[in-house]
Parts: sequence; C-alpha cells; structure tokens
Amino acid sequence: MNSSKLVIGNWKMNGSTAQVRAFADLAAQDWPGCEAALCVPHPLLPAAQAAFGATPLRWGAQDCSAEEEGAFTGEVSVRMIREFGARYVIVGHSERRAHHAETDGQIAVKAQRALAAGLTPIVCVGENAQERDGDQTGMVLRRQLLQIVRALGRDLGSIVVAYEPVWAIGSGDAASPGIIEHTHGFIADMLTFHAGTPASAVRILYGGSVNPRNAGAILSRRNVAGVLVGGASLVPADLREICKAAARCSAPTAMESDVTLQ
Ligand code: PGA
Repeated sequence: MNSSKLVIGNWKMNGSTAQVRAFADLAAQDWPGCEAALCVPHPLLPAAQAAFGATPLRWGAQDCSAEEEGAFTGEVSVRMIREFGARYVIVGHSERRAHHAETDGQIAVKAQRALAAGLTPIVCVGENAQERDGDQTGMVLRRQLLQIVRALGRDLGSIVVAYEPVWAIGSGDAASPGIIEHTHGFIADMLTFHAGTPASAVRILYGGSVNPRNAGAILSRRNVAGVLVGGASLVPADLREICKAAARCSAPTAMESDVTLQ
C-alpha cells in the first residue's frame, strides 16, 4: 500500500473562486509533504485546475452521474469532471444517500464510471446513529460495500473507501480513534474476504468531524490511510495543520485482521 497518508477536503456546497485562490496562495508558499486534494463544487473545477496546478494540492468533485451522457438535466458526467484535470470524485456521500435517495447499486455504477474515466472514486460508507445503537454497523457496512465489491472486482484496489459514520459528520464529535481503528480493520477484512483483494491494497480514510486537534490521534491508528475532512477543509490554516499531522504519520502501517463487528 501507498504509505503516504491522504487528506481529502470536501467543501460541500461552500466556497468560491476567491477561496480557491486563497488556498492556492498558501499551498504554493508552504505546504506539508502529504497527498492532499480538495473536492470542490462542480462550477469551481476550472478555478481549481487553474490555481492548484502549480501547487501540491490536487482537486476533485463531490459527485458524478451514473450515466455516461445524454438527456439527464442537471447531471455532471465523469468525462466533464476529468476534463478539468480532477483526480478524485466522491461517490455515495451520506448527504447524497439521504437527500437524493442514492442506492448502493447507483453508487457502484458511479464508482465504475469514475474508474473508467481515469478518476479515483472515494466511496463513502457509514452507519447512522440508529444503526450504531442497534449494533448494525457491521451489517450496514457489509451491505454498502458488497455492491461495490461485485461491481468492481479486480479494480477494487484502485478505489479509496471513506468510513464516515453519519452521526459524526458535522457534529463536532468524531468517532474515537479506537472505534475508527476497529471499524477500518473490519472493512479491510471484509474486502479481503469478499474480493480476494489484500486488505492492504485499498486505502481506507476516516471522515466525520476531523479537525487539527484530533487528526494526529486518528491518522496514527492502524488501517487509517487518511482522512476526509468537511468543515475544517474550508479553513486554509486548519487544512494545513491536518496535512502536517498526515505528513508526520506517513509511515508503513501494520494491518489488522480477524476483526468482527455486528
Ligand atoms: P465534517 O464532514 O468534517 O464537517 O464532519 C465530513 C464529510 O461530510 O465528509
């Protein structure tokens, strides 16, 4: 596995061309040596391409269409995203699952389309509070990931998975490092078991209220290949601090095995 930690910012429906330029200015002067990308709203992709190209920052989108092209008003295809030099696209974020009723099957098709277009899909999975309280986390993650495993087969090693417990997103309360390590171990084992893909081949990020104060403790855990950051990725200094923590923690990690989760 690539032992360099990956930091992905998810701007959601925030940001402006001025904000893209502010990040680029900072990144051009002083940026830690970790892999980092900002997933911006679609209209900001040209600005991201123009501004981040000369910096260590990469860029991506937050969603793509499951269709290739045609009469799908308002949709944005992977080819369009790729045309602006994007490297990543988030698929299956819990806000899209909740507000746009996206299904595991649609998300799997999006991931396939992204890979075919040369983009790295960041596939989000995670349980909500009710599912967590009902000890259903393992079942939910298995259901969300199985479609991806079936759709991608051997290509599974080319995606990034983001474990984002819905209850932690935007709450200010991240999952504990212990829960994160345990759940990432479960996901890695599940991917190995069902896809035959070595657990170490798939990068598993954690997302949900990551900030400069908790990033180091999360990133230093086993099986945590990086973080997906929402709110804190809108503040240049905060994102830089998280990237510093990622650069400090970028060393080979041992993989967990035999983790069970109900
Ligand atoms: P948050 O969002 O860091 O603001 O909790 C994370 C996400 O939704 O990807």
